[in-house]
Amino acid sequence: MSNKMWGGRFSRGPDAVMEAINASIDFDRRLFAQDIAGSRAHADMLAKQGIISSEDAEAINHGLNTILSEIEAGTFEFSRALEDIHMNVEARLADLIGPAAGRLHTARSRNDQVATDFRLYVRDSIDRLDASLHALQGALAARALEHADTVMPGFTHLQSAQPVTFGHHLLAYVEMLARDRGRFADARARLNQCPLGAAALAGTSFPIDRHATASALGFSAPMANSLDAVSARDFVLETLSAASICAIHLTRFAEEIVIWSSAQFRFISLSDAFSTGSSIMPQKRNPDAAELVRAKAGRIIGALVALATVMKGLPLAYSKDMQEDKEPAFDALDSIELAILAMTGMVTDMTPNTEAMRKAAGSGYSTATDIADWLVRGKGMPFRQAHHVTGRIVALAAGRGVALEDLPLGDIEAIDPAIDAGVLEVLGVDKSVASRTSFGGTAPQNVRAQAESWLRRLAGEA
Ligand code: ARG
Repeated sequence: MSNKMWGGRFSRGPDAVMEAINASIDFDRRLFAQDIAGSRAHADMLAKQGIISSEDAEAINHGLNTILSEIEAGTFEFSRALEDIHMNVEARLADLIGPAAGRLHTARSRNDQVATDFRLYVRDSIDRLDASLHALQGALAARALEHADTVMPGFTHLQSAQPVTFGHHLLAYVEMLARDRGRFADARARLNQCPLGAAALAGTSFPIDRHATASALGFSAPMANSLDAVSARDFVLETLSAASICAIHLTRFAEEIVIWSSAQFRFISLSDAFSTGSSIMPQKRNPDAAELVRAKAGRIIGALVALATVMKGLPLAYSKDMQEDKEPAFDALDSIELAILAMTGMVTDMTPNTEAMRKAAGSGYSTATDIADWLVRGKGMPFRQAHHVTGRIVALAAGRGVALEDLPLGDIEAIDPAIDAGVLEVLGVDKSVASRTSFGGTAPQNVRAQAESWLRRLAGEA
C-alpha cells in the first residue's frame, strides 16, 4: 500500500530496506511534546487568521491533547510505516477527529515543523543543563568554602609547583562552568527564533501570522528567511560545541579525581556510593564514575563532528541528510547531563585527606619561589639572581634529602650574604599560601571571599 500521507502519486509501498533507512520514528519520537506544542500553536493561528474554522481548530486541539496523553501513558502505537513523529501524530489525529485533521498541515511542511520541534527540544535541554551546571557550581563552591585553607600542592607538568588551597582548586572549576553556562546561554539566545511558517522552503501563500506562532511557542521572533529557517542546524552545532567544551572541562576534573583517589596520591576518597569494586581483586575501589565522565567527552565531541560532517556542503534548502541531526545530539545532550550529575555527586561525596594533601604540598621544594620572592622584596635582589641563589638552597636541601624548612639557618645564610633569619618567615606551606593575596590568588582569605561571593550569586540565580 502506498503511504497515506504522501502516496498520491505512488502505486505501491516502499521496499523494506527503504523503510528501514527512511524511518526516523525510532528516535524522533522523543520530539512528541514539542511536535504537539508546535501543532497547537499552528492550529490556533490558522483559526485566528480565518484559514481554518474555529470548530476545526478546537477538534484538532482536543485530538492533540488526547495524543499527548496517549504517548505519555505509553499506549500510543508508533508506526514505522508512518516514518516520523510528525506523520505518526497526524495519522492518529485523523483516526481521532476525521477529515478536520487534514487541515492542520495547511501552510506548513515537515521541513519547518521538524526545525521548530528540534529548536524547542534543544532549548529545553539547554535549560535543564543550565540548572544542573548551577547545582554543580553550588556543590563546588560549598566544598571550596569548607576547604578555603586546606593546603595542597599546586601542579604544573603534574610536578609539585607551589602550594595552593583545595578551595582555590575547586573554585577554578566554578569559573570554567560559569563560562560554559554563558556559552549555552548565548546558544539559547541565538536559537530562539521560530522557523514555523517557512513551510517547505519558500514561505506560503496563506495569510499566516508567523509572529503569533513564534510568540505562542516562546520564541523571540520568527526567522526572517524561509530558506534559512528550514536549512539551519547551526543551533545544534553551537549547542554541541558548548557541550563539548563543557565536557572537556569535566574530563579535567574527572582525571584529577582518578589521580587524587589513587593509592599513590590519597588526596581524596570516594564513599561506597561513588566507587565500584573489582570482581577479582578484593582490595580495589575504583573511581568508575570519574572514568566514565572522562570518557563521555568522546561521544559528545563525536556528535559535534558527526553533525558538522553531515552539514558540510549541503545545498539549500532541506535535504534528508538533515534527519541525521538528531541521534548524535540526543545522545550528546543525555551524556553531558549525566556527566554533570555524576560530577556533582562526586564533589559532594568525596572526603579530602587533608593530612596527605598537606604533606604533599610541602614536598618537592614547593616553597622555593617564596624564598626567591623574599630576596627580591626584602633584599632588593633582581629576580633572576634570587632565582639562582634559591636554586643553590634547593640543591643543598636535595643533597641532604631534607625539606627547605629543615635546613639549619646557618647553612642557608652561608649561601649568600643577603640572607638572614627573616627567611624563616616565608618557609612553610601555610605562610606560602597566606602570602598569595594578589587578586585571584590562593590566599585563604581570597578563597573564602570568592567562595562566599559565588554562593551568594548562585543563590540569587536560583
Ligand atoms: N523526519 C524528517 C527529519 O527529521 C522530517 C522532515 C522530512 N521532510 C521531508 N521533506 N522529507 O528531517
